[in-house]
Amino acid sequence: MKVARQAEWLTISETTQRTEALGAALGELLAPGDVICLAGELGAGKTVFSRGIGAGWGATAPLTSPTYNLVHEHIRRADRARLFHLDFYRVSRAREAETLGIYEILEGGDIVIFEWPERVLDILPDQRLWIDFLMREDDERDLRFGAWGERHAALLNDLRQSLGLKQRGAHAAGD
Ligand SMILES: Nc1ncnc2c1ncn2[C@@H]1O[C@H](COP(=O)(O)OP(=O)(O)O)[C@@H](O)[C@H]1O
Ligand SMILES: [Mg+2]
Repeated sequence: MKVARQAEWLTISETTQRTEALGAALGELLAPGDVICLAGELGAGKTVFSRGIGAGWGATAPLTSPTYNLVHEHIRRADRARLFHLDFYRVSRAREAETLGIYEILEGGDIVIFEWPERVLDILPDQRLWIDFLMREDDERDLRFGAWGERHAALLNDLRQSLGLKQRGAHAAGD
């Protein structure tokens, strides 16, 4: 059954730090089974965003680019939860993704982050949070969020709320 897109959101990031902070805000909200797809050309900011996710989620080691290893497994000390960070830049067909153990990873029900998900569309779960990174002038990036399935729509909603609350908190602290 095809899952409909239930929510979308566009935001602009003007700095590397902002993109990382957006990732961290998302990382704080992630739960087992969440699937995050980060699409966009080389240098668009997918790994910067992932680094933020790892920090916000509480990974024991920093999230770095899995372009060479293709699969990085992370753990959170507090509850031993797992997060997989995958990069399909070097994978041209779903068949190659199978050899990376992608089905086992997805069946495990852990958090999974995909860079270059557009290379392996066939094997992606229907329910996911998809973010397109678009490079604008200089350091400016458009981040287009789309949520498929109820859980990811709720996640996107929570993210927007958390960013709103954080902004209000920052203003309040500055008063
Ligand atoms: N607004 C921004 N958001 C994210 N990265 C930015 C931004 N502006 C400049 N950059 C730079 O662009 C590069 C993005 O690299 P990276 O995250 O590895 O890209 P990708 O994983 O998409 O190939 C970094 O060097 C980062 O400092
Ligand atoms: Mg990358």
